[in-house]
Amino acid sequence: MAMLATTQVMAQQSVGEDIPQKVDSVMSRMTLEEKIGQLNQLTGDGEVTGPVTLNNSYQDQIRQGMVGSMLNVNGAEYTRKIQKIAVEESRLGIPLIFGYDVIHGYKTIFPVPLGESASWDLEAIEKASRIAAREATAAGQHWTFAPMMDISRDARWGRVMEGAGEDPFYGSMVARARIRGFQGEDFSKDHTMLACAKHFVGYGAARGGRDYNTVDMSMRRLHETFLPPFKAAIDEGVATFMSSFNELNGVPVTGSRELVRGLLKDQWGFDGFIVSDWGSIQEMMPHGVAADKYEAGELAMNAGIDMDMEGHVYIQELKNLLEDGRISEEQIDDAVRRILTKKFELGLFDDPYRYCNVEREERVILSKEHRAFARKAAAKSMVLLKNDKVLPLSKNLDDIALIGPLVQADQEYIGTWSARGESKHVVNVMEGFRNKLGEGVNLHYAKGASFTGGDKEGFEKALEAASNADAIVAVVGESAMMSGEALSRMDIGLPGVQKELVLELARLNKPLVVVLMNGRPLAIPEVDQAAPAILEAWLPGTEGGNAIADVVFGDYNPSGKLTASFPHAVGQVPVQYEHKNTGRPKVESQRYTSKYIDGPNKPLYPFGYGLSYTSFEYSQPVLNSQQMNFNETLRVQVDVENTGERAGEEVVQMYVRDLVGSVTRPVKELKGFKKISLEPGEKKTVIFELRADDLAFYTRDMEYKAEPGEFKVFTGSSSEDVQSARFKLLAQ
Ligand code: NOJ
Repeated sequence: MAMLATTQVMAQQSVGEDIPQKVDSVMSRMTLEEKIGQLNQLTGDGEVTGPVTLNNSYQDQIRQGMVGSMLNVNGAEYTRKIQKIAVEESRLGIPLIFGYDVIHGYKTIFPVPLGESASWDLEAIEKASRIAAREATAAGQHWTFAPMMDISRDARWGRVMEGAGEDPFYGSMVARARIRGFQGEDFSKDHTMLACAKHFVGYGAARGGRDYNTVDMSMRRLHETFLPPFKAAIDEGVATFMSSFNELNGVPVTGSRELVRGLLKDQWGFDGFIVSDWGSIQEMMPHGVAADKYEAGELAMNAGIDMDMEGHVYIQELKNLLEDGRISEEQIDDAVRRILTKKFELGLFDDPYRYCNVEREERVILSKEHRAFARKAAAKSMVLLKNDKVLPLSKNLDDIALIGPLVQADQEYIGTWSARGESKHVVNVMEGFRNKLGEGVNLHYAKGASFTGGDKEGFEKALEAASNADAIVAVVGESAMMSGEALSRMDIGLPGVQKELVLELARLNKPLVVVLMNGRPLAIPEVDQAAPAILEAWLPGTEGGNAIADVVFGDYNPSGKLTASFPHAVGQVPVQYEHKNTGRPKVESQRYTSKYIDGPNKPLYPFGYGLSYTSFEYSQPVLNSQQMNFNETLRVQVDVENTGERAGEEVVQMYVRDLVGSVTRPVKELKGFKKISLEPGEKKTVIFELRADDLAFYTRDMEYKAEPGEFKVFTGSSSEDVQSARFKLLAQ
């Protein structure tokens, strides 16, 4: 009774006061133990959606006010049950925040984020996150551990799948779009959720592409390439951050006073809260910077980590640390204040169950509208890598052979980090083709090969099915469990004997379409040589098969462009369009220049590359002036014409190069893009604007500014296929 009364008092208080006062008022009643409890996040049972027998170790801790947030507790009914314990059975009745990895959808699964980013369609990316938020909030979630905004140039790293590729400019825009989608305008709406900028910072630069591995880089590289998406996230109003597992230049980021408290909180003024990654506080012990949990907790609290994810360090050690004067009460209070503020903003003190509505959950999740958009998003994400007049296929063929381990492997379509996505809702390629073609076309299926191993026994049946068909569609690539966390690879070719399978199919000299599904850039030079058509479909999500059918049969004209370069071979990694010229840029005929003796420097398919069923012609870029002052805007204008026979969309890209700087500058940096649609024969003029700010970088003295001098500006259809003009930035 007494507890209920307290809850009611708090609910009344939350009306009509402003949030800082409400937070103070709650904090004035909290014991030190209860405050520390708010900084503790525990995991629940994970896979539970229906009625459950509640396991009680974390429930007892919730009752005792020792838990501020839970992750992996799912479903409107179950979250309500757990919330009820916090609200009705803990002394102060402070509601929990439920967090979950809603990365590319909740139940309706969208393409993996790397794929989604290839659409270059920020509105669509925002909308996919909004749908994910609508579904997740209907199932009781307040907080997603997304978006991941780690830049990576290393396809070996399994988590390239979760990001937006290799470029900080584009990565920042995608991060912002995803945050807008999850968070909306107002946390008090019941379909918006807190987003989380992760993993702060440098995680994507793990040595050798091996997950959790050491990161060592210059401060200039950190500031120019890896930090911009995180700064953009703050500018977009992201509610939370997650610190990364990795060390950076010798210091695990979770214990970095300089980066977390110094840069993020003090310099950038981030006022939300920061959660550690799973156990990353105690992992400072194996990292070798803390002897025990006590020291790990001290490092993390002093660094400014507000919440301990499933690490049990804060709950165990903060009180001792405070008593010993190793941390301060202000630090604890600041962390509690940040967390309670978000709980108020979410409206949880007014109605802790506002996200736990079974009726809404049933209505919203996997709705027709969401599925229809997932289909669109998947089609938009696809990148046509090669097409020697094979695609689109006619819908009037008699026989099509569908070959490969991914044709019907439903579970693989949704990838890892697929939240509550289920294979039973997936439309695979076989089903997608059937939906598109009806019964009029014969579809002949053979698996051909498995994802791994050297068994070629399935080849015979596959070749037999293929030889009798009018066209062959080979659906090959990676299984879901080949990309994502702790899923790094040292060979980034087609796994198993799938390459051999494709090469055999190509020898039949029939119309052959290779549909790739994978979560990372692959090195596939031989497939590129042999196959007349290659469509990159990523791990396309719940509606994957329908979307692939839309593209293969021409109902959607592909418009995706790569956001991460595809190398020729793993030995080129790290490979990216934004590289330096060196003192000895490659000259093929000259021995002592920067090159490989056994392959090209350039990737197989570069950043920004992707074909269409129509063709586009670009004019030279035209500038409104050959020079600009610091306070002026330069206008860069380019005409793009659809010279083919179909309507199509094109991502028009603009890059710049600073020809001489106080430090060396990349040969190209993306500074703008526009996605336009053109009818056959239509021509549009695309205008970009460049300001001095767009030309800024970290100078020799680590000042962020533009330097006067000569620049090149490039416009075109990929980072390689460009035309250029020159201009001068005049001295100030
Ligand atoms: C570890 C991962 O690195 C992080 O991205 C994720 O959000 C947490 N686990 C929670 O599942």
